[in-house]
Amino acid sequence: MSAEDSHIQPLRGLGFAPLGPGPIDDARSHVSGGPAEAIGDICAVSLPSLVVEVGSWQGRSAILWGGELAARNTSWSLVCIDSWLGSDRIRRLTGGEWGMENLHLVDGYPTLYATFATNMRRANMEHNVIPVPLDSAQGLALLQSCGVAADVIYIDAAHDFASVRTDIELALALRNPGNSAALIVCDDFGPNYPGVVRAVLEQAGRARLRVLLRDQQAALVPREADVVITELINRGWVEQATRRRKFGFSRRP
Ligand SMILES: C[S@@+](CC[C@H](N)C(=O)[O-])C[C@H]1O[C@@H](n2cnc3c(N)ncnc32)[C@H](O)[C@@H]1O
Repeated sequence: MSAEDSHIQPLRGLGFAPLGPGPIDDARSHVSGGPAEAIGDICAVSLPSLVVEVGSWQGRSAILWGGELAARNTSWSLVCIDSWLGSDRIRRLTGGEWGMENLHLVDGYPTLYATFATNMRRANMEHNVIPVPLDSAQGLALLQSCGVAADVIYIDAAHDFASVRTDIELALALRNPGNSAALIVCDDFGPNYPGVVRAVLEQAGRARLRVLLRDQQAALVPREADVVITELINRGWVEQATRRRKFGFSRRP
């Protein structure tokens, strides 16, 4: 058993395991796009083998993380936490990638998970992706109680301040203690999501993390991870203080 396997082995006893072979439903949406450059940068500089994604939806960002992990590791895992129930925000949207039609309601209940599973199999990632169908707080706490130690935690579930603050707090405890460069990445850091901005800044301040930004991605990086910080800046990431002045973000939007 590799070191990575030993980190996720306790999950099996609770019924969380790689998807494995199964149906591919042609009626379910293909997914593409997403923050490929930012995820590529994070993987290139921090070389993770175990990533926890919080908020997977149809699998678009999971495919990006999985692609980067597969390119660099013979043994890797991507643990995906999601209720696969959508959100209040998604219930109000129609059409396109985030529209509520993608929930595929049956008897009023979402069957979105089948789209995620189909897309993981389409991407040949079914042996490495471990779905955890729980709400984010329970999922993160459960992973920690099982001894899961992540190199990267990617947060893109609920977008209100209280939820993101909790997700980051729980993610902090999930960082691999054997990896001094283990980091957290939050999606949707920008003016459209003031709760995300406020939660990132508050938690980064509390945990004394540096915040680096690329597009809408915010990386919360340990101060001592000098090499990671320098390499991200060399790749075009910007320290939060610089961007905050530019866009006029305040600490309490
Ligand atoms: C914005 S989507 C994620 C998009 C995905 N990362 C991508 O790039 O394709 C948000 C997802 O978070 C899930 N979600 C929202 N609130 C949640 C919560 N409190 N716990 C678990 N999942 C949640 C929703 O079901 C949805 O699938």
